Amino acid sequence: MNDVELKKEQGSSVISARKLTRTFVDGKKEVAVLKNLDLDVITGELVAIVGASGSGKSTLLQLLGGLDQASSGDIFINDQNINGLSEKKLAKIRNQNLGFVYQFHHLLTEFTALENVSMPCLLAGWSVNDARKRSLELIAAVGLADRAEHKPGELSGGERQRIAFSRALATQPGCILADEPTGNLDEATASEVFKWLLELNQKFNTSFVIVTHDHGLADQTHRKLTLQDGHLIR
Ligand SMILES: Nc1ncnc2c1ncn2[C@@H]1O[C@H](COP(=O)(O)OP(=O)(O)OP(=O)(O)O)[C@@H](O)[C@H]1O
Ligand SMILES: [Mg+2]
Repeated sequence: MNDVELKKEQGSSVISARKLTRTFVDGKKEVAVLKNLDLDVITGELVAIVGASGSGKSTLLQLLGGLDQASSGDIFINDQNINGLSEKKLAKIRNQNLGFVYQFHHLLTEFTALENVSMPCLLAGWSVNDARKRSLELIAAVGLADRAEHKPGELSGGERQRIAFSRALATQPGCILADEPTGNLDEATASEVFKWLLELNQKFNTSFVIVTHDHGLADQTHRKLTLQDGHLIR
């Protein structure tokens, strides 16, 4: 058994948070949003985070992705503590290990689905051929092989989010962080997008942390956590 297999066997963490605290100063008042929060997301795990509006879900995701500074505590991405790293090093770790999906797709409107999904690979230095091959595989994995040459404006809202997931997976990150990826879709379309997300998780063994307001979707994941009073509750 090699190192990677051994880690998988042991259920190693792709992202961990230890005693994570985030306090915002609002005028003279301090608002503690996250309080000594702990989290471990293991390889291939699909975790849903639910919680009231303003409970700190987006704040947590931003911190996990190294896009915001914690007030105290530590974040480990692939076992590396990101505390105090230079922006350059942090960007490298982020690019190699994480993918992001948001409520709005953020696809580049002038480019086709295939070009959008290829972009992160090309930026990471892949050959055009390799990027194309990988992208077509990921576009097929969300059932849109026949839409690869369409631009975002020629896709439905659900199709655009499926392409956004393909793009987030392009460079084979260990974990995707998704903040309300179906929040802008009607219920039927949200279920459809979620079905593809479950497929991607199975097929590529990528971990996902999904923030959602939809308990029906959250119940389909491996673990549903509620963010309440600064803590995650099972
Ligand atoms: N940059 C900031 N400065 C001050 N307060 C902030 C900042 N960002 C977030 N907050 C506050 O932190 C709390 C948590 O915000 P956050 O956006 O994480 O909530 P959320 O759970 O994602 O809510 P929603 O479900 O509405 O998206 C809110 O009270 C918000 O006002
Ligand atoms: Mg939010």
